[in-house]
Amino acid sequence: SVLEMEVEQINKGKYEHYMQKEIHEQPESLTTTMRGRLIRGGSCKSKSVLLGGLKDHLKIIRRSRRIVFIGCGTSYNAALAARPILEELSGIPVAMEIASDLLDRQGPIYREDTTVFVSQSGETADTLRALEYALENGALCVGITNTVGSAIARNTHCGVHINAGCEIGVASTKAYTSQIVVMAMLALAIGDDTISSQARREAIIDGLFDLPSKVKEVLKLDQEMNDLAKLLIAEQSLLVFGRGYNYATALEGALKVKEVALMHSEGILAGEMKHGPLALVDENLPIVVVATRDACFSKQQSVIQQLHARKGRLIVMCTKGDAASVCVSGSCRIIEVPQVEDCLQPLLAYHLTVLRGHNVDQPRNLAKSYTSK
Ligand code: G6P
Repeated sequence: SVLEMEVEQINKGKYEHYMQKEIHEQPESLTTTMRGRLIRGGSCKSKSVLLGGLKDHLKIIRRSRRIVFIGCGTSYNAALAARPILEELSGIPVAMEIASDLLDRQGPIYREDTTVFVSQSGETADTLRALEYALENGALCVGITNTVGSAIARNTHCGVHINAGCEIGVASTKAYTSQIVVMAMLALAIGDDTISSQARREAIIDGLFDLPSKVKEVLKLDQEMNDLAKLLIAEQSLLVFGRGYNYATALEGALKVKEVALMHSEGILAGEMKHGPLALVDENLPIVVVATRDACFSKQQSVIQQLHARKGRLIVMCTKGDAASVCVSGSCRIIEVPQVEDCLQPLLAYHLTVLRGHNVDQPRNLAKSYTSK
């Protein structure tokens, strides 16, 4: 009805789509996610994390044999992004499970496991069924959701709400970044009793405080992303290469391009390049390479060189000031980002879609929450 359309326009404010609004909301949604949970300066410890819904269970989590992340779609990718920091700060092996695959295999889950269910809606059927399965097997079940009172929030033993605010666009955006922040805080909380990693943890806490302003900076790339999207609009396919922390960025970037721009896209673990993907590289296929400053930087530099050698059409995402060191020979398009850049890929996908004229808030054939088979 006309009234419904008007209400919708009011909700979207100055934005054309909810997805665009939700992408631009991230500096605020991330701030809300962290509110009251990061402590800078206290009596005994200088910096720490307080997750109220977990504090009584941290001891059990620290003693668990494995931490098993379980989710679907973007929520799975968010967990994958958090895996390295969780492994580093907890020293506990972290396993990744796509909910439907765990159920298909009836994979082993033990009493000594901590299972973590990640779901924006808290209602996704596969994730919920995997939760029932983990409960039956006696594991400790932790929920990470955006929806207070949801089935996953109610049926887990403990958990953390991501507090990202209501997400209406079917393709998850702001929930993704808030989920990663919550899981980083989870890693900090589990590692809280380890003295040797204190400096590292404090640096991460400082980084979290700076995050909203960094995200604001990235959002200023809107016009640049728009121009890039125009270049890619007629392409059949887009590859996204990442590794380490940015393996998840590659998968999530490709997922957004797929579900929102309805364009074929694949996220590729750069370390696997030689084992297949290299055969696809020519002067036509556009390839995004995430090569920001981290432990994998020099390896990514050599990936870029090898792609250049095959005349690959490269779009390199790097840390500000690194353009010359990521693109020494040949030509590539550079996107410079501050050290924190997770939210950039959805922006890229968003512009691709708008230019292709699809409905970004309601991709064809997809639902916000799959609550039945
Ligand atoms: C659907 C949505 C995705 C979401 C996935 C998992 O496929 O389109 O954006 O990531 O479900 O949803 P959940 O609510 O469990 O995070």
